[in-house]
Parts: sequence; C-alpha cells; structure tokens
Amino acid sequence: MNEPRLLTLDDYRRAARARLSKMAYDYYRSGADGQTTLRANRRAFRQWEIWPRVLVDVSSLELATTVLGTPVALPVLVAPTAYQRLAHPDGELAAARGTHRAGSLFVLSMLATSTLEDVAAASDGPRWFQLYVHKDRGLTRSLVERAQAAGYSALVLTVDTPLLGRRLADERNGFQLPAGLRMENLRDAQAAANLEGSALAGYAAARHDPTLSWKDVDWLSSLSGLPVVLKGILRADDAARAVSAGAAGIVVSNHGARQLDGAPASLSALPGVVEAVAGRCEVLLDGGIRWGTDVFKALALGARAVLLGRPILWGLAVAGDSGVQHVLDLVREELTRAMALSGCPTLASITPDLVRRDNKRT
Ligand code: FNR
Ligand code: LAC
Repeated sequence: MNEPRLLTLDDYRRAARARLSKMAYDYYRSGADGQTTLRANRRAFRQWEIWPRVLVDVSSLELATTVLGTPVALPVLVAPTAYQRLAHPDGELAAARGTHRAGSLFVLSMLATSTLEDVAAASDGPRWFQLYVHKDRGLTRSLVERAQAAGYSALVLTVDTPLLGRRLADERNGFQLPAGLRMENLRDAQAAANLEGSALAGYAAARHDPTLSWKDVDWLSSLSGLPVVLKGILRADDAARAVSAGAAGIVVSNHGARQLDGAPASLSALPGVVEAVAGRCEVLLDGGIRWGTDVFKALALGARAVLLGRPILWGLAVAGDSGVQHVLDLVREELTRAMALSGCPTLASITPDLVRRDNKRT
C-alpha cells in the first residue's frame, strides 16, 4: 500500500524495473551499441519549445482522430514490441485489452509470445500486424493470410532490420526467452537457445531476409488487400519512394534506437519526411515519446499520430492490462493539458508555428 503513486511514464519505468528480471529489463530498455541514438531520441524532444497561444476557448477539447481510416480516441498508438510475456503472464493479450480500453490501436509484433489469433480473440479493438520478412517467403505468406483472417486491418512491414542491431546488454546477459515462452506465431522456427550472446540476434541473422528491397513491398501488397505501412523510414528520399511503392503509411522510426547507433533521432527526421510525402500517405512517428507534450510536438511537426514502445511494456509489467490502459490514459491527460494550455482545442489546431527549436537545450 505504500507504493508511490504512478504519475508519469518514467514512474512506470522505475516500478517495472523493480519487478522485471535483469535480463528482461535490459532487453526492453537497451539501445544499440553506445546508445547515442537512444539519448538523441529524448534530446530531440527537449530541444523543441512550445509557444502557447492565449485567449482561445479551450472549454472543449477534441483528441479523436483516424489512422488509415480507423477511428481512435487519441493520436497515440501502441508500437509492436516482441516478447510481451516477459513483462506479464498474459503478455500481448493483456496489452491488447488495455490498449482497446484506452481507445487506442494495438500493433502486434510478429515476434509475439501469443498467437495472433489469441490476441484477436482477447480484444475486438482495432489492430495491425507487424512483420519481418523471412527468407522463407512461404512463412510470410501464411502469416499474412492468418492476420487477414483474424481481422488485422493493416500490415506493418519493418524495414530497418535486415539484421538485428547489437545490444550489448543482451550479449552480456546471453539474452533468451525463459523456459515456457516462445515465439508463438513461428512455432516451427524457434531461436536456438544454445547460441552465445543474444539468442534473438542469432535468430534474426539466421531467418530475416537481408535481400529485402523495394520490389518486395509490391510482393507483400499482392499477398492481401491490406494496406501496408512501412516502419523504420528516416530519409526523405526513402519516404518519397515509399509513396511510389504504394505504402498507405510510414512510421518515422529508428526502432527505439535499437538498430543503427548514430542514426538521427526520429523527431529530427520527421519534418523532412512530412515534406517529401506532401500528404500522399499518413506519417506516424515513434521513438522517445514519454510525455503528452512530446506527442504535441510530433503532431505540430506533421505526424498524424505517434506510437509508444517501451512505456507500454512498463505498464504491462506493473499492472497488466490496467497498467497499459493507465499509461495511455496518462499520456492522454498530459496531451489534453498541453492543448488547453497552448490554445489548441483540436488536433488540427496544433500547427507548426507553435513549436520552435532551440539547439542549445540539451
Ligand atoms: C521493439 N521494436 C520492435 N519493432 C518492430 O517492428 N517489431 C518488433 O518486434 C519490435 N520489438 C521491440 C522490442 C522492444 C523491447 C522494444 C523496446 C522495441 C521497436 C518499437 O516498435 C518502436 O519502434 C520503439 O520501441 C519506439 O521507441 P520507444 O517508444 O520505445 O522509445
Ligand atoms: C527488437 C526486435 C525484436 O527490437 O525488433 O528487439
């Protein structure tokens, strides 16, 4: 009963740390290599100031929007993260339920520790399915068919992971799934548990298809009628190419700084992508969102919505579905307050002139 109240996303991180094994916490938290990009993801948000507008009627605030036509109660979605049963026994099922109760959309990772069908049965909220393309194209085809049959309304193709970034903590811990947990959607293809270092890195090296290229986006689209979102784009030229390749959406992302260390903060990449896309597809952003004001800044710079990765895992570890819901509710409250205090009654009124960059802020 004498637990401190959980008032911020960072409170959830600390509380989760106390509950998780070192191996699990390190896996969730780490960035790649020297973690420069991990720090940059946060610093980029701090460098933008919000210049509030005053004397605007903010008695009624509207946060609802749509993503690829799907209504959501707030412009904050749940990013795909692997292995959620490391955080809680109900893993992805609890995360999907909490997400739905908060009015948000759940993106299920292909590397889930629950089957995509069980997640669909656990919650009838909106959901997308994230995938990595494996060398075994038949496996991808069958996952796409299963996802479509189970009512996932979009495919999120992660394009920044031809192989896994090097997370030193996982190497040192010999990271692997504990007994009893597995990649439930890939039962035929479990990570070799006896590899040295990170078993996940070994799995990706053996199974992910490093030949994946632009022509495969067409191939993926042809497997189903589902819209395809490309996750992990940072460059304006790639964003323009994604539009030409028929992407319905782009997630500006550096994979939570877990892939290429030295890559820019995702927020720094956002304006260039927004300009290149020029409204031709939806632009989302993830990486380092920890406050409602971060959501505000991303929207001001042109994102339609953002996604949360680690904070959802912290909520799940602390209190299962209600923890996930509370994390999303906290961000919602913070965004609501930021909108009221800066004279923005609607998401559309969060315009670029409200934010200004100050590089001296660190
Ligand atoms: C991820 N991410 C990720 N992305 C993806 O496309 N498929 C996946 O399976 C995973 N798995 C995964 C596991 C863990 C533990 C983390 C932290 C991240 C990346 C994720 O979708 C997202 O891009 C970032 O997490 C966003 O950054 P923040 O919110 O964690 O800072
Ligand atoms: C990760 C992979 C699974 O970031 O996407 O750990």
